[in-house]
Amino acid sequence: MLEKKETILTGDRPTGKMHIGHYFGSLQNRVKLQNEYDTYIEVADVQALTDNFNNPQKVKESVLQIVLDELSVGINPNKATIFIQSMIPEIAELTVFYSNLVTVSRLERNPTVKTEIAQKRELFGESVTYGFLGYPVSQAADITAFNGTLVPVGEDQLPLIEQCREIVRKFNSIYGETLYEPEAKLSNNKRIKGLDGNEKMGKSLGNAIYLSDSENIVKEKVMGALTDPARIRKDDKGHPEICMVAYYHNLFSSQDEVKNVCSECKAGTRGCVACKKQLINAINNYLNPIREKRKYYEEREDEVKEILMEGTNKARKIAKQTMERVKKAMMLDY
Ligand code: TRP
Ligand code: SF4
Repeated sequence: MLEKKETILTGDRPTGKMHIGHYFGSLQNRVKLQNEYDTYIEVADVQALTDNFNNPQKVKESVLQIVLDELSVGINPNKATIFIQSMIPEIAELTVFYSNLVTVSRLERNPTVKTEIAQKRELFGESVTYGFLGYPVSQAADITAFNGTLVPVGEDQLPLIEQCREIVRKFNSIYGETLYEPEAKLSNNKRIKGLDGNEKMGKSLGNAIYLSDSENIVKEKVMGALTDPARIRKDDKGHPEICMVAYYHNLFSSQDEVKNVCSECKAGTRGCVACKKQLINAINNYLNPIREKRKYYEEREDEVKEILMEGTNKARKIAKQTMERVKKAMMLDY
């Protein structure tokens, strides 16, 4: 097997702004990883189009928002390379080559793809598009084009990494050792529940706190969060384990504060409104430095574009080298 220094390759579909679920689920981890590894972060606009082909405007607008999200939480463009998928034609080219190495039935059996297709019935009807069914192939191209060896993912993305590994092994066995086989780097970060107690935080569910939400929006959202419905009067004994306010205190408040929240709630000595206000402060204190950084970059859109173009140029150089190796191996080096 080919050996090399570990390279992190990760990406996001630009389909909206990022929320605190993304933050605790992956962004926070990325900020740490950029200090330890060569890190590439792809803005996967081509992949976003596989299920948003009818809404290019949404994808376009989300690209800038996502980059602002990344920069505002502390992704450092001097450490990590942020780039745009559609500006690297080698990815599309690799996708075509790799598509010979994976069967349609294998793609149809991919659990992640299967779940997503079921969720997108409205978009795809009875028959999914060729592009969407094949996005794992394109994602294998994303990873291998930049010699990614470590892909930080949550559980739901594991089948995509497995699919990529299979493609790499098949490629290498037919055409000779050319591609690096990546490994999933499972983040043990948990999935963050929504304000309404839903297992998932998501835009379509309307239960998310965005990194770009203002102080007032955070206030409104927390005021509407799900609490223990059994608490009607202030001295009713509460159950913090079913209250989303307590759940978020766990993420944003100190351990001592969390202890107080729980014991006072259970004893019936804590009012829900005061408890929410305390949480609003904690969240806003947490988000304020992120908001400040965002503002800095929002006021300097040219600088953001430059970061993206520099990152893309750097990434493309690597992709071109990979393409050269691939074409040579496939006897396409005319
Ligand atoms: N599929 C990923 C998601 O939905 C996004 C993505 C695109 C990605 N290309 C990638 C993730 C390459 C890791 C590596 O979040
Ligand atoms: Fe939830 Fe706090 Fe009210 Fe208890 S006091 S139910 S933890 S909001």
